[in-house]
Amino acid sequence: MKPIVARSTVAGLALALTLAGFSLADDDDHHERKGYKRPKRLAVPNDAPLVWKEECAACHMLYAPGLLPADAWRQQMQTLDEHYGSNATLDPVQERDILDFLLRASTANRLPVEPSPTAGEPPRISQTRWFEHKHDEVSEAKFQREAVGGSFNCVACHRDAERGDFDDDRVKIPR
Ligand code: HEC
Ligand code: HEC
Repeated sequence: MKPIVARSTVAGLALALTLAGFSLADDDDHHERKGYKRPKRLAVPNDAPLVWKEECAACHMLYAPGLLPADAWRQQMQTLDEHYGSNATLDPVQERDILDFLLRASTANRLPVEPSPTAGEPPRISQTRWFEHKHDEVSEAKFQREAVGGSFNCVACHRDAERGDFDDDRVKIPR
């Protein structure tokens, strides 16, 4: 009789895991219904041009194209002369190459563009409803810690953010 008991325990465990899996899926669906669709495909494509990797990470971390919809990137690239108070202009050929790449690599993000609340600023990732929802338990004081520098600096807390990894199992807020 013993083996049968053991087998049913294994089956029970498998069932419990399956149920846990389903409840996670339900959670995601629930968020989608409330309008918090998550950007899809955050991994940086292998064919990303060097000019993007170098120029767009000169002043801050490299933001995966999947974090914003195509129209938001278009606005970013059209306003590089007034880029959040910095001048980030490049030569026209470089700008064209970067824009082409960003548009191509962000096609999986179909979220509507959410303008930055600061007038004249191109859209931010860190001020989308999606971002606020994901961080509704992270206080503003934590974003403002010196070791973080602000909500734009994802990589301070998400070590592998530049590879598009934001898994909350690996998040660590620096002291
Ligand atoms: C000369 C410096 C500089 C360069 C070069 C630069 N940026 Fe920025 N960028 C900034 C600053 C400053 C901010 C605002 C950071 C803050 O909130 O304090 C910013 C913010 C951003 C944000 C918004 C982050 C958020 O809060 O969600 C995005 C997206 C962005 N940059 C994309 C780019 C792209 C794409 C390129 C390459 C074409 C680029 N940046 C090159 C200085 C630069
Ligand atoms: C001050 C540290 C900090 C910064 C900076 C930060 N995050 Fe987070 N992030 C967190 C924490 C903590 C969580 C987990 C929140 C929770 O589970 O309630 C999280 C969760 C997330 C999640 C959900 C992960 C999951 O597994 O569901 C995403 C996506 C995310 N952050 C993206 C970003 C992006 C994009 C940026 C930059 C524009 C950023 N974060 C900046 C601390 C930070």
